Amino acid sequence: MKHLLITGGAGFIGSHVVRLFVNKYPEYRIVNLDALTYAGNLANLKDIEDKPNYTFVKADICDYERMCAVMQEYDIDGVIHLAAESHVDRSIKDPFTFARTNVMGTLSLLQAARQYWDGRWEGKRFYHISTDEVYGALRLDRPEGDAPYGSEFFLETTPYNPHSPYSASKASSDHFVRAYHDTYGMPTLVTNCSNNYGPYQFPEKLIPLFINNIRHGKPLPVYGKGENVRDWLYVVDHARAIDVIFHNGNIGDTYNIGGFNEWKNIDIVKVLIRTVDRLLGNPEGTSDHLITYVTDRAGHDLRYAIDSTKLKNELGWEPSLQFEEGIELTVRWYLENQEWMDNITSGAYEKYYADMYRGRV
Ligand code: NAD
Ligand code: TYD
Repeated sequence: MKHLLITGGAGFIGSHVVRLFVNKYPEYRIVNLDALTYAGNLANLKDIEDKPNYTFVKADICDYERMCAVMQEYDIDGVIHLAAESHVDRSIKDPFTFARTNVMGTLSLLQAARQYWDGRWEGKRFYHISTDEVYGALRLDRPEGDAPYGSEFFLETTPYNPHSPYSASKASSDHFVRAYHDTYGMPTLVTNCSNNYGPYQFPEKLIPLFINNIRHGKPLPVYGKGENVRDWLYVVDHARAIDVIFHNGNIGDTYNIGGFNEWKNIDIVKVLIRTVDRLLGNPEGTSDHLITYVTDRAGHDLRYAIDSTKLKNELGWEPSLQFEEGIELTVRWYLENQEWMDNITSGAYEKYYADMYRGRV
């Protein structure tokens, strides 16, 4: 019997990880701990919330006493830590919240696990989910060709060089996790993954935001010239990688996760427009006029590209979906789950988005 604490399970990636573990491991107890910030949504887990091996706990990871109590109450032997503030644009406006949750929250969880496990490391795991953004930005040295757009890739050994308050806070949390391994012997794992896309992503992020805006005929705010490159992975493939690494990863190690799938933002936007128009039965080109170039993001990293060869060679993980299949599934999901989207985009979020957008045009 394994008792797993998954933090941030009501968010985008966390909900896919919780779903995978609850369904695949009925013999485990899965405790999903989430503060339900603006990004947390229990509607993401409707299909598994009644399963006997699933428990939800509403709590803030920064509350150290509470983390100690949860470790004890559920006799936790494995932690998969996803809870975080995750949006770069918000981090530019409000860096303190990012330092609090991502740095102090991670430290609080590490210390609570250390306190509860008390040196009895056998069979224990503390797995921290991080991002490729900690490595900084890569050059775009093949701007006109097909992907990949440059000759360099992020490796597990690439030195950290974060540029946004978000990536700086994630980098700091990664260092704390490794410090707990090196100093106290805690059995840790860290993974750095590329951009995820798929169902249940909060619509402040590029792909769900643009799908929803195309559907409603609203402008698509492309930052700068739309030439920044991101490496996209279908979220269920990330969850599969987390499963493999949690069970078979080498203690103390880092693994990069990515799909060798680089896209310029503007090309993604064109794919989204084509796909949404086709699925809605609109003639091709109907929504092209929605593309609106706006002021660039401050400190906007030019290119991210992950080399996940280590993960493939050591643990046999590879993405299961081609990007075209993943995008089709994703667009269909958002179009078929308009109620999920409407529940988020009405009310307070509408004002936040209007302010964010007004600041850019
Ligand atoms: P998300 O913003 O969708 O979800 C974050 C979740 O954490 C929410 O449910 C929120 O309520 C919860 N949370 C926030 N602060 C909390 C706190 N103080 N205590 C408890 N819960 C709290 O984020 P996501 O996109 O699912 O990202 C999950 C993790 O994966 C993050 O650590 C992120 O850095 C990392 N990551 C994300 C991506 C991506 O493309 N989205 C890529 C690589 C890594
Ligand atoms: P995002 O989904 O915020 O992820 P990240 O910043 O973590 O990579 O953004 C993906 C890319 O899309 C990034 O280069 C910024 C760009 N972008 C826009 O051009 N317009 C938008 O409205 C948003 C949200 C993002």
